[in-house]
Amino acid sequence: MKRIAKTSTGASNSLDAPQRNVNGAHRFFYVFAPSKPMLLSAFKHVSLVCLILLFVLSSCNTKPKIGFLMDSLEIERWNKDKALFEQKVNELGGIPYVEVAESDPAKQLEQAKKLLDEDIDVLVVVPVDSEKAGEIVKLAHKHYVPVISYDRLIKDCNLDYYVSTDNIHIGELQADYLTKISPKGNYVLISGPTSDYNAYLLHLGWMNVLQPLIDKGDVNVVLDEFSEFWLPDEAYRILSQYLKDKNEVDAIICGNDVLASGAIAALKEHQKEGTVLLAGQDADLQAVRNIVAGNQTITIYKPIEMLAYAAANAAIKISDGEAPSNMHLTVNNGKRLVPAILLEASVVNSQNIKMTVIQEGYIGEQEIFN
Ligand code: GAL
Repeated sequence: MKRIAKTSTGASNSLDAPQRNVNGAHRFFYVFAPSKPMLLSAFKHVSLVCLILLFVLSSCNTKPKIGFLMDSLEIERWNKDKALFEQKVNELGGIPYVEVAESDPAKQLEQAKKLLDEDIDVLVVVPVDSEKAGEIVKLAHKHYVPVISYDRLIKDCNLDYYVSTDNIHIGELQADYLTKISPKGNYVLISGPTSDYNAYLLHLGWMNVLQPLIDKGDVNVVLDEFSEFWLPDEAYRILSQYLKDKNEVDAIICGNDVLASGAIAALKEHQKEGTVLLAGQDADLQAVRNIVAGNQTITIYKPIEMLAYAAANAAIKISDGEAPSNMHLTVNNGKRLVPAILLEASVVNSQNIKMTVIQEGYIGEQEIFN
């Protein structure tokens, strides 16, 4: 490289000796005259830097980050939700960020903070507590991150979207099935925890069917309790307590299969297993086996794949600044009408196991019958 120092007077060409200009200030003047090879090599360097920059920019920032806050993975179905959701988000070019709160609402809030600090674009939440999770929505909105409530509704806040099944209808399906077999009799109702709004919705569905029969004097609800957690021990405790003193039970409707399994344990102790109608939900493997064994009447199969895919699709669309497709309904969460997708669920009984869960690939035939 040629470097020529020129002063305002032209008296010196030394680079190091500052020269006085007309105003008396010291200044340098450089004249830059690169050779052709120099220009070529500079051009090559600049091109290389541009290419690296382009690569870094395109690889680091175009993939949408989708947060998925889950309650717990203790219950079988949630493992399927997780795997399917992650798979779909990846397939659509996003990056899933999953956190599991182990049934602790405070921990779930912390996990929300963590994901928001990691600059996620959209947050999908299975709320541990339907009321408390409103804080998560508020926090996400402070970061301009929209929230999709997954399976369970987040109540009383400006929730953006809701993807679930029609939980009232699930309750109706359960009660309808059992009352078709036993339109008269003593019914026991064991709901999930009140912190999960789905527990109320199911109960509402049960009562839609039972109330007219109660009014007629045909059905008697002898026990109606909400459990503290979605745990088998809870249903076992509730039903054992009842069966200690009383014997009258013709049908039991449970919030899910885990509660139904606790009910079966209590029935067993009173030599009543298989003699009482029993409805659960989730199509857990053990529940389907119980149906085959005659210890459970029905379970409800929710289309988990469709649910997880719908949420993943919606999240990616939203991250692209588009409106999610198929949000044709709205659900009132106490604060606003939330755009929603509500999928249909179906009954699984001893007659249709092959046509439902097996055909859908939800559970393998071998797993059930071996
Ligand atoms: C409910 C959900 C059920 C069941 C339960 C326990 O909200 O709708 O399918 O899994 O939680 O996790």
